[in-house]
Amino acid sequence: MSRRQIFAGNWKMYKTYNEAVDLVKGIMKDIADIGSKEVVVFPPAVYLRDIVSLCKNSGIDVGIQNIHFEKEGAFTGEISPLMAKDVEVRYALIGHSERRHVFHETDDEVNKKVKAALEAGLEPVVCVGELLEEREAGKSEDVVRRQTEVAFKDIDIKFVQKIIIAYEPVWAIGTGKVATPDIADTMHKSIRETVKKKYNEKTADGISILYGGSVKPENIAELYAKDNIDGVLVGGASLKIKSFLDIIHVAQ
Ligand code: PGA
Repeated sequence: MSRRQIFAGNWKMYKTYNEAVDLVKGIMKDIADIGSKEVVVFPPAVYLRDIVSLCKNSGIDVGIQNIHFEKEGAFTGEISPLMAKDVEVRYALIGHSERRHVFHETDDEVNKKVKAALEAGLEPVVCVGELLEEREAGKSEDVVRRQTEVAFKDIDIKFVQKIIIAYEPVWAIGTGKVATPDIADTMHKSIRETVKKKYNEKTADGISILYGGSVKPENIAELYAKDNIDGVLVGGASLKIKSFLDIIHVAQ
C-alpha cells in the first residue's frame, strides 16, 4: 500500500518575517526533483497569509502550528480553525508535545481540535509520543495507544484518511537524541495497530505516520528506510534551508 510521504518543517516560535520568507523561498528553489514526496511548512501564525501566497504552485503546503477548537469567541490570543482555513492553510498541527507539556493541553482537547479542524476542512497532523520516564517504565506503547485512541474518539471513518499522525517521543524532541529506527518502527506499527482495531486494516494501512524528534540529514536515511515511517516532522533542522533540503533529498 503506498502511503503519502510527507516532509514537514515545524518552525515553532523562530524566525523574523524576512527570515521566514527567505527560508521558504530557499526551500522552493530546490524541490523540483523530489518526485512524490510532499513538503509542508508550519510557520508562526502571523506569517501564514503571506507564506501561503508565496507557496502557491511551489510544491510546498502550509500548516498552522496550533488551533483552538471553537469557531470563534472570547478566547484572547487564540486562532480558530475557520480563521486558518480562511487564509488557505491546508494542515493543522495538533497536540504537539510542547502544546501538551508546556501549555498543558489534554488528550480530550486534542480530540476536540481534531474534530474542529476536520469540520473546518483542515487536515490534522496529530502528534503523539511518550515522556522519558514513561519509556523507562516500559509504558511507551500504552501511552501512545491512549493518546491515539482519544485523538480519534468519535471521528468517522470517512475522515480518517485526512488525518496524519506524527510519532514524536518527547525525549527526542530538541534533545539531539533520536529514536533508533527500530524503536520508531515498532511504535509506528503499534499506532497502526490501534487505528486498525478502531477502524479496519485498509484504513490503518493507508494512514501516513511521520517520525519526529532530532531528525537530521545524518539520521534520515536509516529512519526513512523503515517500512512504517512515511516521512518526518522536523524542528531544529528545518530552520536552515540546507539541512531541511538535505533531509528531503537524502531520504530515498
Ligand atoms: P526537533 O523537533 O526536530 O528539533 O527535535 C521536532 C518537533 O518538535 O516537531
